[in-house]
Amino acid sequence: MRKSPKSDKSLQLSTHDILCTRPIAGLDALLSVLDPIKSLNIEVRDQILSQDQLIEALQGKSGLISMLSDSIEQKVMEACPELKIIANYAVGFNNIDIDYARKRGIAIGNTPDVLSFSTAETALTLLLGIARKLPSLTQVVKDGDWLGFEPMLYNGFDLRNKTIAVLGPGRIGIEFANLCKAIWKARVITIHRDSLTGEHPFEIVSEDELYREADVLSIHLPLNESSRKLVTLDYIKQFSKPFFLVNTARGAICNEADLLKALEKGLLRGVGLDVTDPEPISRDSPLLTRDDVIVTPHIGSATDRTRQEMTKMCLENILSFFQEKALPYPV
Ligand code: DGY
Repeated sequence: MRKSPKSDKSLQLSTHDILCTRPIAGLDALLSVLDPIKSLNIEVRDQILSQDQLIEALQGKSGLISMLSDSIEQKVMEACPELKIIANYAVGFNNIDIDYARKRGIAIGNTPDVLSFSTAETALTLLLGIARKLPSLTQVVKDGDWLGFEPMLYNGFDLRNKTIAVLGPGRIGIEFANLCKAIWKARVITIHRDSLTGEHPFEIVSEDELYREADVLSIHLPLNESSRKLVTLDYIKQFSKPFFLVNTARGAICNEADLLKALEKGLLRGVGLDVTDPEPISRDSPLLTRDDVIVTPHIGSATDRTRQEMTKMCLENILSFFQEKALPYPV
């Protein structure tokens, strides 16, 4: 019997229902280019979802574009049996229970490389901001207390030719090191020899030398069990001189109460945080009252170009998955 065209499965387009937990840059424009046959049906939510709301929104969805603030725990995946692919809108993926996802055969993608420069720029901005006292000096102007040129006040710390230590010399750490070398002719040191191959901008030193020499410590580590709460007061006490600390990786790598103690004791010259634990940081955090601290709201990848690239990578991961191709940006 001849099948009518309608019942011929090969002529039917399969569409995939996807949840995107927040609006993301360039989604519609990129979709019309990358998915002209409209194989993806993407529901975009514009409010932060609680765990229960996330589970509810994911019912019947086979794909998810998740934010780093979405906690994709085993409980969520267990409650969403149709979920097959998660495209995380971030390079870090500590928000996903990867072990369980792998066990369940859920594919996971992320957005590496494209945000390395923007995130390195964020680290550099925080460092410059605290070294040149921007929080207090912009306040001086706003308060009308800038009375004229002051040869003795307002002086900051000169970063030229200083020693900058990098924890986590991955893609972002390398971009940051290159910027520091180009701008300040800095000596950029790290202890992580194993993760470095080929040409790289670092001088590899022992832990003791890092503690002895560093004027700056910039954190670019992934968050995992070995980096969680790595930077405590005891850790900071090992450094020979006061230093600037910058964290653009994950807030949970630092113990924030200990950062405060270290600032009060003069062990830290200043702190720049683009990430906190939790996010957002409490409005009552004593860190926010200090002139030697800058906190930004997790803006590492927040430039228009980078965010559009990240959208494109998430869509490419999802489209490749449903076309039964390897993910271009797998975790
Ligand atoms: C990420 O994407 O993981 C970074 O935190 C960007 O800031």
